[in-house]
Amino acid sequence: MLQHNVKACVFDAYGTLFDFAAATRACRDILGADLDRLTVLWRDKQLQYTWLRAIQRRHVDFWQVTGDALDYALDTLGIHRPGLRDHLMDLYLTLEPFPEVPDMLRRLKAAGLNTAILSNGSPMMLDVAVRNAAIHELLDAILSVEEVGVYKPAPEVYRLAVERLGIPTAQICFVSSNSWDAYAAAAFGMRVVWCNRYGQRPERLPGRPDREIRTLAELPELVGAATGR
Ligand code: LAC
Repeated sequence: MLQHNVKACVFDAYGTLFDFAAATRACRDILGADLDRLTVLWRDKQLQYTWLRAIQRRHVDFWQVTGDALDYALDTLGIHRPGLRDHLMDLYLTLEPFPEVPDMLRRLKAAGLNTAILSNGSPMMLDVAVRNAAIHELLDAILSVEEVGVYKPAPEVYRLAVERLGIPTAQICFVSSNSWDAYAAAAFGMRVVWCNRYGQRPERLPGRPDREIRTLAELPELVGAATGR
């Protein structure tokens, strides 16, 4: 169990609740040998653009950044298929949740915990993804960085969750599969569970996640919601 009296679990969205690789995977037949390279380059570039825009204070929303990153990735890999770009963007809107997500959220809710998303995603993107995954009734709040106009890991983003949930920082358990996001939330003062799906090595960054898990199915037990169903 986490030592502190956790009142809320706040989740990152992309890579944590929703599988960003599902969009390219759905185009496996078209992408062939480029599938993995496109998946990785699209995601890497998307994140780089968020960090670079945050440093420059030149914010545009995550839909724009996601499209810009896809354009860069398709151009770099020399993939020029009519209609593919828009098809991939459509698929990004309705990414599958990881399989354990609905049951995990139900267990947290049954144990009386608050649940929320805190994501770079725009309100439109998050709304569509959450409804598509049929988890909207299992979430108390969906918080987008659009409210503060800067991307993670700016501290303003983590502060938004504290303010909007009205729960002290140390009683919020932030959960992310993105290591840099998990470390930043820990540095901010939240309890943090790093869902290290891909077995990455520890970061050399400020902050230290309290716990590391491999899938979100392990989360309810850590926050004292093991038996709630
Ligand atoms: C998010 C990105 C970082 O959902 O995955 O905020």
